[in-house]
Amino acid sequence: MPALNIWSGLRINLAIAENSLMQQVVADYLNENLRLQTKQLTYGDGTSGSHRLKTNLATFVNDYFHPVKEVAANQIIISTGVGGSIDQISWGLCNEGDGILVGKPVYSGFIQGMEKPQENEWLWFLIDCRANAAPVSFGDINPFSVEALQCYERELVDFNQRNPGVQIRALLLANPHNPLGKCYPREVLIEYLKFCECHDIHLIIDEIYAMSIFKTSSNQDATEFHSILSIDIDRFANPLRVHVLYGMSKDFSSNGLRLGIVISRNPDLIAAMSTITVFSWPSAPADLAWCIMLEDRTFLKYYISEHQKRLGQGYEFLAGILDNFGIDYVRGSNAGFFIWADFSFALEKPTDGGDPGLEEDMKLDERIIKCGVHLAAGFGYLAEKPGWFRITFSQPRPLLLLGIAKMMKLLKGVDIHIDLADTNIVDPQKNIPADSTYSSLRSSPEPICTRKYSV
Ligand SMILES: Cc1ncc(COP(=O)(O)O)c(C=O)c1O
Repeated sequence: MPALNIWSGLRINLAIAENSLMQQVVADYLNENLRLQTKQLTYGDGTSGSHRLKTNLATFVNDYFHPVKEVAANQIIISTGVGGSIDQISWGLCNEGDGILVGKPVYSGFIQGMEKPQENEWLWFLIDCRANAAPVSFGDINPFSVEALQCYERELVDFNQRNPGVQIRALLLANPHNPLGKCYPREVLIEYLKFCECHDIHLIIDEIYAMSIFKTSSNQDATEFHSILSIDIDRFANPLRVHVLYGMSKDFSSNGLRLGIVISRNPDLIAAMSTITVFSWPSAPADLAWCIMLEDRTFLKYYISEHQKRLGQGYEFLAGILDNFGIDYVRGSNAGFFIWADFSFALEKPTDGGDPGLEEDMKLDERIIKCGVHLAAGFGYLAEKPGWFRITFSQPRPLLLLGIAKMMKLLKGVDIHIDLADTNIVDPQKNIPADSTYSSLRSSPEPICTRKYSV
């Protein structure tokens, strides 16, 4: 398989979770309001972010996450993105070779790098750190149900038996879920707390999509987002073992600013992580950028409601296209930037689901890449069934259409004419130097193309 460069501008990238629907709003706001002072040219308040940002984040979380116990600035460690925060926290909680439970399909960043030490044995490494991800299969069990905890329990026992000398230290969840785009019910979150308490392990909840929630006509009954902080944790678990991750990349449409946080009431963990923050010292201008957005309550309110509105429109747009082409997908999602869709009809050798079909997934992924489109293939998420792909809907609409058109031609033999004349979109495969992010399109708050396309 050819080496995959996900950053390449020569593909239509519908794999990466960036929100181009709001980037221009953020860029304009920062261009008008961000003024560097000499403080941003100093080492500032130290390696884990400014006091000002920690205070602002505590206020933001207290206002928007409805915590039962108020979050304080000294319970926050800031780093260069949630990827880095995961690294820090697993370093803080695990010894070399310990395990962290993650449920399938799992956000690909929770597992990174893959090695095959022996035939039939795959080891998944949690982001560059000392811990191993211990992936959990659910089969036909709904991953958002209480029953799913039995699967975690099975893996916990197995992992501890299989690996003498090390043990499962934590369970790591993304709520809202990536790639499924759904939220865990409140009562299920309570069961997660009890489960972790019962097994003496930590619960790490990645809430990076907390404000990336939307309503559409098709998801009226979807489970609403509840932060773990909005539950009275002390009633169900040791609060020293419950930690939240959050960041700027998704809810603030600013992947490039690279800011992530850990929120924990555990002073020992905060102290331990503080010893390595020198490796993920946030940049002061980025720190200031988040500060000014959080301090401007009027902007914040407008921004979040607009962000949610545009995500809802983006979701409906892509869901409508998939419906039109008869492509199945996970219904009723209400969070995130993507839809988890079933392309198994295009597998060369469909499998019955008993076999993860990794090779088949890779082959289909390669075909789609060759036609100039990059989707996030299920194998990177440890999907339990072959043929599932994550498609980002928060890309500019003409780009999304162009990507879908290329795929439908490839996979269904359908010709779709897309008129790009009125847009600044260029087909990246025509070798015209292309801005891979098409930032020029992002100034339009309104959809540039509507769903008027002909098949
Ligand atoms: C669930 C989840 N956590 C963490 C990250 C990484 O965030 P950051 O850009 O802050 O490293 C992502 C990015 O896709 C994500 O989906």
